[in-house]
Amino acid sequence: MSLQIPSIKLCDESKMPFLGLGTYDSLDENELSTAIKAAINSGYRHFDCAYFYQNEQIIGKAIHESINESNGTLKREDFYIVSKCWNSFHSKEKVSECLDITLKRFGFDYLDLYLIHWPMGFKEGGSDIPLDENNQIIESEFHYIETWKAMEDLLQQGKVKSIGISNFNIEQTKEILDNCKIRPVCNQVEVNPYFQNRELVDFCHKENIRIVAYAPLRSTTYTPQQNWVKPENLVPQENPHVVSLAAKYNKTPAQIILRWLIQRDIVVIPKSVTPSRIAQNSQIFDFELTEEDMEVFKTMKTGSRINHFEGAKHHKTYPFKNE
Ligand SMILES: NC(=O)c1ccc[n+]([C@@H]2O[C@H](COP(=O)([O-])OP(=O)(O)OC[C@H]3O[C@@H](n4cnc5c(N)ncnc54)[C@H](OP(=O)(O)O)[C@@H]3O)[C@@H](O)[C@H]2O)c1
Repeated sequence: MSLQIPSIKLCDESKMPFLGLGTYDSLDENELSTAIKAAINSGYRHFDCAYFYQNEQIIGKAIHESINESNGTLKREDFYIVSKCWNSFHSKEKVSECLDITLKRFGFDYLDLYLIHWPMGFKEGGSDIPLDENNQIIESEFHYIETWKAMEDLLQQGKVKSIGISNFNIEQTKEILDNCKIRPVCNQVEVNPYFQNRELVDFCHKENIRIVAYAPLRSTTYTPQQNWVKPENLVPQENPHVVSLAAKYNKTPAQIILRWLIQRDIVVIPKSVTPSRIAQNSQIFDFELTEEDMEVFKTMKTGSRINHFEGAKHHKTYPFKNE
């Protein structure tokens, strides 16, 4: 039996389910479709997607099938569908085009939340990662403030219900706040026991911007071709503190980590294509870590981010320059 997954209120008065299913790097149609349906059966309604992940069509089809097979118990409005505008779509026209492609792939006429995936514009009209002859990413002239204004327009057109940002650092977030008509409801960034990102989390929380934690289990697949993710084998699920808390609460290490995040009012979007893990990751609302056990995480030796997008580090608005 799946428990109802609680939601958190956003600054635009809408609600976001505390748990969503991450979908990056899931490209096998059967596997992903099975995962989406397993998630729906476990009570997930929030799906974290992106134009860049190239799998929105599979996700949309699985959700439509679930709605059709539900005998009226499931409707589009029950879901919380998130996608992200990719870096090579940062001009006003392209933001709208990127969303239209995403909506078409899903077969939906609106999204619940649309994010700027990264604060970096790439050359438009070509490949998703346009490279010059030296294998350097080619930038576009479009600044993220312009992209944000286009996001505000989409909201006004009713194509998206909320708008937010992802991978923005404190200065970049402040710049959005200083130049916006509509505030971002969230900043989706990496947060896990070994990259706690506390300064940014505290800043956003003070500004009433929700944090959505990506790579909450820090287990992102390492893809050397993209030079995207650090091949560190620091797995917080093996941390002795986490392992001992798991034994104490009769939960798994993954559940302890996800619970630690939601108790800090951080939304989590663990990715899994394994139905048993998908179910396991949803069983985090029936127990509570004591304050003392929450404190244990502060003592953990934290390292650097795992998702650093090294290939983009020369970009003028690369967000992790100061690390
Ligand atoms: N905004 C951004 O730039 C950005 C960047 C990165 C990620 N994201 C989003 O955040 C989501 C989550 O991040 P992520 O995929 O990088 O990393 P993650 O969720 O921390 O880790 C996913 C990995 O953990 C495994 N896993 C899941 N549940 C588990 C459990 N209970 N026990 C053991 N292993 C478990 C999964 O394996 P199996 O699938 O094999 O079960 C998968 O290999 C992404 O899918 C994406 O939607 C956004």
